[in-house]
Amino acid sequence: MKQEIILCRSLATDLERVLQQQSFDKLFLLTDEATHRCCAPLLGEALLGQVEEVVIPAGDTHKTLDTLASVWQALSCRGATRRSMLINLGGGMVTDLGGFAASTFKRGIGYLNIPTTLLAMVDAAVGGKTGINFNGLKNEIGVFNPAAYVLLDTAFLRTLDRPNLLSGYAEMLKHGLISTVAHWAELLNVEIADTVCVDYDALRAPVRRSVQVKEEIVAQDPLEQGLRKALNLGHTVGHAFESLAMAEHRAVLHGYAVAWGLVCELYLSNRLVGFPVGKMRQTVDFIRERYGTFTFDCNDYETLYELMTHDKKNRAGVIHFTLLREVGEICLDQTADKELIFEMLDFYRENGVG
Ligand code: GLY
Repeated sequence: MKQEIILCRSLATDLERVLQQQSFDKLFLLTDEATHRCCAPLLGEALLGQVEEVVIPAGDTHKTLDTLASVWQALSCRGATRRSMLINLGGGMVTDLGGFAASTFKRGIGYLNIPTTLLAMVDAAVGGKTGINFNGLKNEIGVFNPAAYVLLDTAFLRTLDRPNLLSGYAEMLKHGLISTVAHWAELLNVEIADTVCVDYDALRAPVRRSVQVKEEIVAQDPLEQGLRKALNLGHTVGHAFESLAMAEHRAVLHGYAVAWGLVCELYLSNRLVGFPVGKMRQTVDFIRERYGTFTFDCNDYETLYELMTHDKKNRAGVIHFTLLREVGEICLDQTADKELIFEMLDFYRENGVG
């Protein structure tokens, strides 16, 4: 199913134009407590006057079956039909959960995504992955079903603090690593030192390029049978870090976990398929300076290993990694034995970060 991505100049105008092309009987808007306050007003009074808004609690800890049920409940009680449409306005939590709610309500209603975080703009809201966390595992339940449109407005980036900007930037860095040396090098040169100095207009071009990297891959492999696994670089270990943090009630932003996962998986890339040490060091140093450290000790290795065995890319219980031979040279379905995975975790703790 085709998904149209629009890099907006004026969100309210572009949204109005998109909605005029859609046929629906009732329009719903899903926000969280933060986007309800900071972002919904940017949609314009005309639109806000015609939507039924559903507000959910903010944060990944609420990406649960209970929150999902509350959205189904609101849609059902407030008269949504199969011809209704849902607009998801928020970060990845809102677009993932809202996309799943829309995909399952009355067997599926249409939906649009308006991502408000950098992470959602370049990754979560694009490409049709929807879902919720379940049983202590990230995105354990969900379906592939793209939004009809994704409207990107980089003006929302001004609402983000530095950690949230950096969180999205980690996914951009991943797109750089799996695409071209030029894009990777461009990303290592953009500075997000503090939000006061960020040149938001200068971010438009790398954001556009980053979304294109993802779009091109998703167009070739929408259901992640092969090439789309490239988008999982850094995520096998990153999701294990995130799940460990979730179990220990430590707040970790997704992109930070991905950045730390990239450190580990570039180490594996070097050891298994010869990713150049110099490029590994440049990337690891960039991450170390901006994303700091995820702390764990060798008593956590078994737990982290066990968490990696739940990765969706695995086959027959064997952990499968996406690795790189070079920037842009992707090696899918790579395996590593437990000893090497533990060595990778040693590298992370001793040399990689901190
Ligand atoms: N976030 C990775 C993907 O959409 O495939």
